[in-house]
Amino acid sequence: MKISVVGTGYVGLVSGVCFAEVGHDVICVDNDYTKVNKINNGESPIYEEGLSELLKKHININLRATTDLSKAILNTELTIIAVGTPFGKDTIDLQYIEKVSKEIGQVLKNKPSYHVVVVKSTVVPGTTDELVLPLLEKYSCKKAGKDFGVGMNPEFLREGSAITDFMSPDRIVIGGIDKKTQNKLNDIYKPFSETDKLKTNNKTAEMIKYTSNSLLATLISFSNEIGNLCSLQGDMDAIEVMKGVHLDKRISPILKNNQRISPSIISYLEAGCGFGGSCFPKDVRALISYGKNAGDKMQLLSSVVDINNDQPMKMLSLLTKHFPNLDGKRIAILGLAFKPGTDDMRESPAIPIIKYLLSKNTKIKAYDPVAQDEAKKIFNTTKITYCESIRESTRDVDAVLLLTRWQEFETLPKILNKYINPPLLIDGRRMFPKNCLPRYEGIGI
Ligand code: UGA
Repeated sequence: MKISVVGTGYVGLVSGVCFAEVGHDVICVDNDYTKVNKINNGESPIYEEGLSELLKKHININLRATTDLSKAILNTELTIIAVGTPFGKDTIDLQYIEKVSKEIGQVLKNKPSYHVVVVKSTVVPGTTDELVLPLLEKYSCKKAGKDFGVGMNPEFLREGSAITDFMSPDRIVIGGIDKKTQNKLNDIYKPFSETDKLKTNNKTAEMIKYTSNSLLATLISFSNEIGNLCSLQGDMDAIEVMKGVHLDKRISPILKNNQRISPSIISYLEAGCGFGGSCFPKDVRALISYGKNAGDKMQLLSSVVDINNDQPMKMLSLLTKHFPNLDGKRIAILGLAFKPGTDDMRESPAIPIIKYLLSKNTKIKAYDPVAQDEAKKIFNTTKITYCESIRESTRDVDAVLLLTRWQEFETLPKILNKYINPPLLIDGRRMFPKNCLPRYEGIGI
């Protein structure tokens, strides 16, 4: 099918490239010339495993990028909106959705054939039907359901494994105002015949996305609350506590052959230094604001956010337990990205932690395999020394704060134990056993 994707950010570009991989003809649209040029030259503007290879494979064959929205819509049957929906001051900022809906409407005015417009950006329930649809009708002077269809198709990609997640989805949610829209949207997912598909209305599709992310964020904050309590009371380790909880067969079922399944959701039920990224913090806050506007107190999700905001401070309390006066102390930060497999630092726990350490006049050495350039943009200071290896960053420091679960950090205890006087290790991701070093602290111990 001929598909246009508006917005070549994370969701848009990954979707566009993957739709090309499954055989569709894809036009990606963005108003940023530099990005469009890069894509047309086979270069990915973002870091994501496997993306560059797929982009190179399809560009100028069944994948193109353009700044010309009109041409893209007139030459395709279905348009996916994948523009950003940042969290504004106290609510979701829909300005880009609004702008693009108007522009698409204007093009549809001159398109004689039926077209389907699908929202893929994460938007609060009601946005597709109550904002996008009316704008499309207003600017096209046409009728939704008759001249064009309007759908909602949330994405469930994780940064770092977005291509695999897209190519092997766990579910496909197909929202639409009518059967015709849903069927057209279903058509682009025909290559995924094995995947569970849920056909529903647009508002439910929007709510499924927020509910999924809010559940995962809740599991993390729940585990952190338990971990913090274990730390406070002593003689308990959250890792062991959670191990006991995970063994509930309703969480990790036992098969008939007595083998136990360990579902990956378990990894969200572990204490750590907090969640971050471009999705969980923004989506939970957007749902809280949506709920509060509707008159609900949103008590549980408000606590999920509060616990998460406090979590980086737990790392710092462990540090000040050993070094009450941080002035002049040499600290290594291992891991800047909000999680492994990405250079994304949005809402990373590393940000408040480093800001605090800078305010206390510590000497910071930082190392992350891919996120250092991002960090340089955020901190813009000469007070952080960026290093090229674990060894370089941890040499001659008083303490090491491990903030991201990068696989290459697995060698850390071995490296630190070789020093004459190994530094204190504060393990924000509980990667290592408690006895791995003479001085070890971890969240939840
Ligand atoms: C999240 C969801 O997992 C995706 O399903 C969703 O599509 C995406 O948001 C989105 O809305 O676009 P993402 O933010 O890329 O994906 O990352 P996750 O891997 O879920 O990590 C989010 C947070 O959970 C991170 O802070 C990470 O440290 C934490 N996490 C992640 C865990 O605590 N345990 C894990 O096993 C994985």
